[in-house]
Amino acid sequence: MFNKLWGKLSRDMGIDLGTANTLVYVKDQGIIINEPSIVAINNRSDQIMTIGEDAKKMLGKTPGYITISKPLIRGIISDFEVTEKMIKHFINKVHQESFGFIARPIVVIGIPLDVTEVERKAVEDACKSAGAREVHLIEQSLAAAIGARLPVQEASGMMIVESGAGLTEIAVISLGGIVTFSTLPIAGNELDENIIQYARENFNLLLGEKSAEEIKIKIATVSSDSEKVEATIRGRDLMSGLPKEVTVTNQHIKEAISRSVRQIVEAIRDTIEKTPPELVVDIYERGILLSGGTAMLKGLDKVIAQEIKIPVHVINDPLTSVVRGTGIILEDLNNLKELLIPPTVEG
Ligand SMILES: Nc1ncnc2c1ncn2[C@@H]1O[C@H](COP(=O)(O)OP(=O)(O)OP(=O)(O)O)[C@@H](O)[C@H]1O
Ligand SMILES: [Mg+2]
Repeated sequence: MFNKLWGKLSRDMGIDLGTANTLVYVKDQGIIINEPSIVAINNRSDQIMTIGEDAKKMLGKTPGYITISKPLIRGIISDFEVTEKMIKHFINKVHQESFGFIARPIVVIGIPLDVTEVERKAVEDACKSAGAREVHLIEQSLAAAIGARLPVQEASGMMIVESGAGLTEIAVISLGGIVTFSTLPIAGNELDENIIQYARENFNLLLGEKSAEEIKIKIATVSSDSEKVEATIRGRDLMSGLPKEVTVTNQHIKEAISRSVRQIVEAIRDTIEKTPPELVVDIYERGILLSGGTAMLKGLDKVIAQEIKIPVHVINDPLTSVVRGTGIILEDLNNLKELLIPPTVEG
């Protein structure tokens, strides 16, 4: 009874705390927040200046008194204090939109598969000190599969490849749990790094990370049958130190990122190899599902299908699958509790 009342007064939320983007789903409402996981800090006052999209605009353009912090690295909290402040900021933002008394929310939050006890605890603690009254953790690959409306609780195998900015997770799911998985620190950010390195080595051009990401999203393709596309990249000439413009093709970008793409494909192959045969048959029938921002890399689905000999599908709206999954859990928490990571016993 008391819980029910609390429920009515609180804005419970599902959170995808990503290396690049943080999304918040609010119960009965949907996705309310979708912002870069970036925080601008004023060093003079040690206060947060701004968070999210506005902080991203400052990237690479700040004077000495502003520090831009990305508090997550490879899906894991690297700066606890800043992460906590960022979560608090988002919770407050959700609460601002309602009037009257608001109780502390229940939070369902996705975490990577391969994390230590300490890293997992850090996520819980960050949410609690940001104001959550209960924190429930779920493996983010499982959340992505739930968000993609896959029947995760059935006795049927499915493979989801969740590739974001900081890491790629490959998970085989059956009966509501993870059967086999691989994770690798190669995803969108690494592809951007590859492009920066390629420009340095081949064009003597120093490229900023924002420009590298832009060119990737604009023209990168990884399949071999794509038509030639050109674009200009701008940066600083390493020899003269002056601004320089270079025309690149999708072939250049493909070459720049090919090693990383191959590593992702190999990790999928390894995961298939350690998966029990009955489940491999199910995966073949359903196809491998791609989720996360890097799932949108043009031709990635084709390359994986060619190499692994299993059909591949990019799920609908791959950037929001994890948060939608946490939302589905939140809406039916009592019945879906078994999908959550069991709480650690304190002591
Ligand atoms: N059309 C696109 N083509 C290629 N990459 C893209 C595209 N759109 C977005 N991305 C990349 O997707 C990544 C962001 O994806 P996402 O929001 O799923 O990551 P994240 O959840 O923050 O990170 P992680 O899950 O690794 O912690 C960025 O690296 C971005 O450059
Ligand atoms: Mg993610």
